[in-house]
Amino acid sequence: MLWRWNLRRLRGWMCWSWLGAGLFLHAADDARLATLTRLVQDDSPKVRLEALRALAKFPTAEAAAAALGVLDKPMDPTLDYALWLTINDLSEPWIAALQSGAWKPDGRERQLEFALKALRPDQASRVLAQVLESRPLQRDGSGPWIELIGAAGTPKELRRLLDQVLNGGFDEAASARGLKALGEASRLRKLTPDGDRTALIKLFDSPSPATRTAALKLAGQWKDLPGATSKLAQIAGASGTDPATQAAAIDALRQIGGKDAVDSLVGLTGPTQNPAVRRQAASALAALDLNRALPAIVEVAKTTTDEAAALEFWRAVLGVKGAGKRVAEALPESGLAPESAKAGLRAAREGGRSELDLALALAKGAGLSTDPAASGAGLIKELAAKASAQGDPSRGEWIYRRSDLACVSCHAIGGAGGKVGPDMTSLGASAPVDYLVESVLLPNAKIKEGYHSLIITTKDGSEYTGTLARESPSDVVLRNAAGAEQVIAKTDIEKREQGTLSLMPSGLLDPLNEQEQLDLIAFLSRLGKPGDFDAAQGGVARQWRITQTVHTDAQAGQEAWPLTAAWDDKRWSPTYALVRGTLPKGLIDEITKAQFWTSRLAIYAGTELTTANAGPVRFKLTAGPGAELWVDGRKIGGAGDTTTELAAGTHRVIVRLDPKQVPEVVKLETKDGAFRLN
Ligand code: HEC
Repeated sequence: MLWRWNLRRLRGWMCWSWLGAGLFLHAADDARLATLTRLVQDDSPKVRLEALRALAKFPTAEAAAAALGVLDKPMDPTLDYALWLTINDLSEPWIAALQSGAWKPDGRERQLEFALKALRPDQASRVLAQVLESRPLQRDGSGPWIELIGAAGTPKELRRLLDQVLNGGFDEAASARGLKALGEASRLRKLTPDGDRTALIKLFDSPSPATRTAALKLAGQWKDLPGATSKLAQIAGASGTDPATQAAAIDALRQIGGKDAVDSLVGLTGPTQNPAVRRQAASALAALDLNRALPAIVEVAKTTTDEAAALEFWRAVLGVKGAGKRVAEALPESGLAPESAKAGLRAAREGGRSELDLALALAKGAGLSTDPAASGAGLIKELAAKASAQGDPSRGEWIYRRSDLACVSCHAIGGAGGKVGPDMTSLGASAPVDYLVESVLLPNAKIKEGYHSLIITTKDGSEYTGTLARESPSDVVLRNAAGAEQVIAKTDIEKREQGTLSLMPSGLLDPLNEQEQLDLIAFLSRLGKPGDFDAAQGGVARQWRITQTVHTDAQAGQEAWPLTAAWDDKRWSPTYALVRGTLPKGLIDEITKAQFWTSRLAIYAGTELTTANAGPVRFKLTAGPGAELWVDGRKIGGAGDTTTELAAGTHRVIVRLDPKQVPEVVKLETKDGAFRLN
């Protein structure tokens, strides 16, 4: 295969060139360059690709010309990119060759276009004038020239582009492109065409809608076009103008700004205007002069009955800094259109906004409800009803246990779990489902008594947030969102204030799909009700540590290390039993997933029991054949009931399982002591 051979030769050179870059350019290079020039036209795209990159090592016009020659052959995205890189490497020699006439673009249009587009705009700008001199812009705008002028043209080329648009030298599509390119030059490079630009105003009346809106937009971008403001106001206010043109004119007025534009916009919010113009003018005015916009905004809020239009309006208004509060103060106590208020409530809450004042004022003014969560109430009721009908609490429990949701790290059930948030043992039995949904969806809407957060600033400038865990005459102890206690000396405290937000993060349910949300809610709603989700009666081990031993433990003479290893030994995996008090097989398997090359000897699940008095303790172990119960390093029995004598104090209780017969569930109960919790 010839191309393989060529490839090998090329690779040899490339290493070579990296080894001795300085030595590379000597007489032999001419021969190399000639070969590369040939190989860049090779039939194999792989050879062309390597040749292309090798050419980048020759900083000469010849190499650039040879590289561009690859365009005569079929291209693909990789070759395109390689050529782009190579032209960038060889940009200076190529520009010099073009300027001196050594590289002639005639008959190489494609190469010229590719190279100019590959260059940085400041480089392209150095040669663009020369290239354009002999090249009329086509009526249909073919080629990259219009956009190149926008990206790299000087005021002189920009002028030429504008003139050709003004003289009708382009068709409709090319005219709009030309105006857009002029807008890009103004936006990105702050450049405008040489000379008088007022003739652009003529195009505001162009019969072509595309040209018209592009011209209006450009006037807004230029900002300083004499006479534009009054003409724009006239177009926006004329009853015969089509809606898109009116909107573009109003937007241009907003961009131009200044006293005249403000006065014009105020005029456009008047009662004789059509509703869409009034809305757009009011939101444009809000951006320029909020005070003068307020009466118009109120008027729009009273009269807009199209919810989609209202939403667009409110989004535009709330995009203005500080607008929510000021609008809230200006809204009347009654008389707002409900559709408009509903849209406003939505806009006030989306995108991380919390425009509570505005939400309240809107709800009140439209007689919706004085509750700022009014608009969410429908959603909450709906989810609650669906969860009761379609949620599966057993699946929900596994969602509750997911580590990415972190519910378990902040909440406890039956005492097992974190302490940052309230214990949820009897939550479902004591709270309506709506309340649960709201607590989870909008933690900040109602914060449970006793769980308000505190923000403490200390004299050294640190800030602590958390719930109050304890307080003594000398210290305040906060529990932060991670469950850690922070002790702060009272003498260090500079400021102590109550936080307004819940420590429970909002957006926790975002990663869940609807069914998962329903399942989770169904689970919460069953907590404390008789059945599988009642953790109220104690006497069952909930907090466990699980591990396993393998053959290497036996070889090391450590076959039974879990019987004595410290609880914080990294080999233990902490976990909790399900609410019903069981460790299911699936959970045990997941924790003890063995690598296939290890042979497992035993699985150990450990916990602790504290007894107040010395005396007999009766255990009930639910497991299967092969299970063993060990207390303080002593085997006392297996599955079923076992009674043993224990001293008062804390005892280590271990259930040892045969990995070949892991039971469907493991459950350990006793009424004669208290199992460990946290
Ligand atoms: C960073 C800690 C944290 C995490 C994580 C957390 N919560 Fe909370 N949660 C709290 C705190 C603190 C409260 C009490 C303040 C409040 O009402 O907002 C609370 C309150 C609640 C309440 C209301 C309880 C009541 O008795 O009023 C429910 C229900 C709830 N959380 C469910 C969940 C669920 C479900 C998850 C997991 C998706 C979760 N929480 C994750 C801290 C947390």
